[in-house]
Amino acid sequence: AVQPDLAGRHVVVSAGGTREPLDPVRFIGNRSSGLQGYALARTAAARGARVTLVAANVALPDPAGARVVPVGSAEEMRKAVLEAAGDADAVVMAAAVADFRPVDYRGSKIKKAEGAEPEPIRLAKNPDILAELGERRRAGQVIVGFAAETDDVLANGRAKLARKRSDLLVVNQVGEDLTFGRPDNAAVILGADGSSTEVERGAKEALADVVWDLVAARLDPLPAD
Ligand code: C5P
Repeated sequence: AVQPDLAGRHVVVSAGGTREPLDPVRFIGNRSSGLQGYALARTAAARGARVTLVAANVALPDPAGARVVPVGSAEEMRKAVLEAAGDADAVVMAAAVADFRPVDYRGSKIKKAEGAEPEPIRLAKNPDILAELGERRRAGQVIVGFAAETDDVLANGRAKLARKRSDLLVVNQVGEDLTFGRPDNAAVILGADGSSTEVERGAKEALADVVWDLVAARLDPLPAD
């Protein structure tokens, strides 16, 4: 049987990939499937946590034991995550949040005009939810980010961990179908305390359990009642 080491805890997990709308039918999106975030939600529930899963555009069945909050864009995800994080013991940002969104949203479908050049898409920066969580963290709250890197994986990961003031950063190498849509994953989990935990390629559930082990070790003990 699984140890209920997250009993009495509220954890928030974000999953999937945000979509930034251009018009009612088009968006800028990414390849995140939501599998890793859903594995995190499922394993946390199995370990006794109350789980809020903020899911962006995921086509997977709801994990048992999680409250699912569906969102579309980064701005919607920000609202849902910050609200759920209010009383959370841990927040794990596994979602791929778009860094940019189109400046102009067209209320009706963009048409191609005969003979005219297409208009360029102007982009604005999205809020960095993970960085915001790091800034407004509650005492004792554990914050975990993910980083998909293609180059200088560890150096970039260390820099990102510090910049976003997270406790843990799960760094995976992406590209050439190493992660997206696959049931397995491999990662190095960096800690703000200087620790580094290597997780060999295996089921996304197995990686999720290592993440919760590291989170559980960083939580303050529950008050004895
Ligand atoms: O900076 P980068 O996008 O590589 O950081 C990845 C981490 O930051 C992920 O945990 C992702 O969920 C989070 N993130 C975020 N808001 C953004 C961009 C990324 O919370 N706008």
